[in-house]
Amino acid sequence: MDLKTQYLGLELANPIVVGACPLGTSVDSIRDLEAAGAAAIVLPSLFEEEIMAAARTAMEIESAGAGFAEAGSYLPNPDGYHIGPGQYLDHLEAVKAAVKIPVIGSLNGTSVGGWTNYSKKMENAGADALELNTYLLPFESDETGAEVEQRTIDIVAAVKEAVSIPVSVKLSPFFSSLPNLAKRLEAIGADGLVMFNRFYQPDIDIENLDVVPNLRLSTADELRLRLRWLAVLSAQTRMSLAATGGAHSAVDVIKAVMCGAHSVQMVSALLIHGPDHIGRTLDAMRFWLTDHEYENLAQMQGSLSLAKAENPKAFARANYMKMLDSWEM
Ligand SMILES: Cc1cc2nc3c(=O)[nH]c(=O)nc-3n(C[C@H](O)[C@H](O)[C@H](O)COP(=O)(O)O)c2cc1C
Repeated sequence: MDLKTQYLGLELANPIVVGACPLGTSVDSIRDLEAAGAAAIVLPSLFEEEIMAAARTAMEIESAGAGFAEAGSYLPNPDGYHIGPGQYLDHLEAVKAAVKIPVIGSLNGTSVGGWTNYSKKMENAGADALELNTYLLPFESDETGAEVEQRTIDIVAAVKEAVSIPVSVKLSPFFSSLPNLAKRLEAIGADGLVMFNRFYQPDIDIENLDVVPNLRLSTADELRLRLRWLAVLSAQTRMSLAATGGAHSAVDVIKAVMCGAHSVQMVSALLIHGPDHIGRTLDAMRFWLTDHEYENLAQMQGSLSLAKAENPKAFARANYMKMLDSWEM
């Protein structure tokens, strides 16, 4: 069964891409993911905050007149997930040398500024494409929705200006008009959309009156939000579309592709089940497609987009009342 798909102009052997997460921090685990069948990997994000912190430290060293040889000892070298800009580029180069699948760099930031130059450095380090995550929680009452959108547009425009590799934008679902934002992103040259960012919700500890950050992995229920917007946007954009959030099984991947996804990222499922989950998912997809007499994956790609679905109203408001009425007491 031919599961090939085109994503960001890259030919992928199948639609399953490892999304940005800690599995991308070790060359060995990326080799395992490739061996298990991953078609591409998005490396964990390099954050604007990390880039700016490294730049500040470099400036402090310079103004303190410290010798070059000592400089390395001043730079942050945090343990664990986030490794800082210099090491990020080294890691990217090492991953490129170790695997054949496309490697997508990820930049995460919210303001227009010098940090976006790292997109060029990622390109030079061998990234096949870039994913830009503009994870932003607008807390200021003076900032309008239009300004929030413009910020995303400006960051994407700056990165597009800097690089010649494809650039996708990992979006939040919380925009007033996603189709309009998508249209504007396409107009400035964005090559793809990744839908959607999962916002990590802090909990409240009522005993200690405290806000508790805790990270919960996704469940397949979260896919539905993605399915609707994939179906809506795939009917009106030429950009590549990736699903992220709630894809755990072969059925989930098939649903996302039917709604218009060109690739489907997995993170939680791989953190729970390990890299071999990819191989099992691909086997189950092949079985299902063969059983349903598809000749290849491309045949079903977008078959349930708003433009092609037999019942497109099911994605829209028209179905809302009907659905509420269907609840049986
Ligand atoms: C531990 C962890 C680390 C993550 N790190 C990043 C990151 O660095 N950049 C990013 O854009 N998304 C990051 N994500 C979000 C994932 O890429 C993905 O979008 C999200 O987990 C939803 O997909 P899933 O339902 O398959 O888990 C992270 C998720 C997890 C669980």
